[in-house]
Amino acid sequence: MLILGIESSCDETAASVVKDCTELKSSVIASQALEHQKYGGVVPELASRRHCENILSTVQQALDEAEVTADMLDGIAVTYTPGLIGALLVGVNFAKGMAFAAGKPLIPVHHITGHIAANYLVHPELKPPYLCLVVSGGHTMLVEVIKYTEFKILGTTRDDAAGECFDKCARVLGYPYPGGVQIDKAAQTGDAKKYRLPRPRVAGSELDCSFSGLKTAVINTVHHAGQTGEIIDAPSMAASLQKTVSEILTEKTELAAQRTGYTTIAMAGGVSANSGLRAAMQKMCDKNGYQLYMPPLSLCGDNAAMIACQGSYNFLAGMTADESLNAYASGTAIGEMKETS
Ligand code: KG4
Ligand code: ZN
Repeated sequence: MLILGIESSCDETAASVVKDCTELKSSVIASQALEHQKYGGVVPELASRRHCENILSTVQQALDEAEVTADMLDGIAVTYTPGLIGALLVGVNFAKGMAFAAGKPLIPVHHITGHIAANYLVHPELKPPYLCLVVSGGHTMLVEVIKYTEFKILGTTRDDAAGECFDKCARVLGYPYPGGVQIDKAAQTGDAKKYRLPRPRVAGSELDCSFSGLKTAVINTVHHAGQTGEIIDAPSMAASLQKTVSEILTEKTELAAQRTGYTTIAMAGGVSANSGLRAAMQKMCDKNGYQLYMPPLSLCGDNAAMIACQGSYNFLAGMTADESLNAYASGTAIGEMKETS
């Protein structure tokens, strides 16, 4: 079974061919990150325009590298939610046109379920059910992966995502977009005990988290230093932030594991590339005897291999769409969308 995956939810135009769910045949990513860096973040209209320009060549390259032609595919999977609406529409419309022209099934994929599936590409022994910590630029959630196509959200952020918190704090500390990886780098040389940062809790909902108070604390500390002429030790602030975020996420995951009884834990999403978080999660899992699965750094961020992989499972479960498929910026939570049926 050969599935083509297409991803265009943010600032990466990506295409990939996956065989039999987990065998990666090709993965092409045309990143726009450097272009958006000039503006300190993703400019939605610019992202849509670049997707328009890059999508055909990206898909063609993915097919060529996999040595397949469109007629050999069993289905075309595409991210249809969540993300920047103009960006998503480029991928969805391209996939619809291609599926129609080639007479192939169209397979909608929820971006977050794709991030989770990235693990199957490198850890074929990982099989549902298990617990997954999803940490990306727009989402932070603890997900019970019941089946390959069935998910339950156990906890989520009440405000900012962990990635958003990293990116905003990096910006105020003077690091370029995308800031998460810069925080990670800077933290290597900083003193994580230098700044004491708050650990906001969500009353009555221990598996939910909140990062806006933490973000505000970092921003206020930097602004206050600017007013008093104090020099902020940026690497130490980065290290303190990384340690705080890692501890919050690790504690929540440990609590979710204790409550559900899962001993198999996975991580997914761009922030799962964070070295401090990876180390903290590994330590917590070793202490408890849990098995931890993490995607390699190359599959943590946005890519289409994860969409082709999850698309393969959706296809096997009969989750295809007709030509009326639309894109949605948000509002299709993974616990209440088609993947649950
Ligand atoms: O999953 P992703 O590529 O896109 C979304 O679906 O949002 O995640 C992007 C997020 C950004 O906030 C980026 O700064 C963060 O992942 N990120 C990191 C690291 N690498 C990427 N955050 C912390 N440490 C990293 N090493
Ligand atoms: Zn993503």
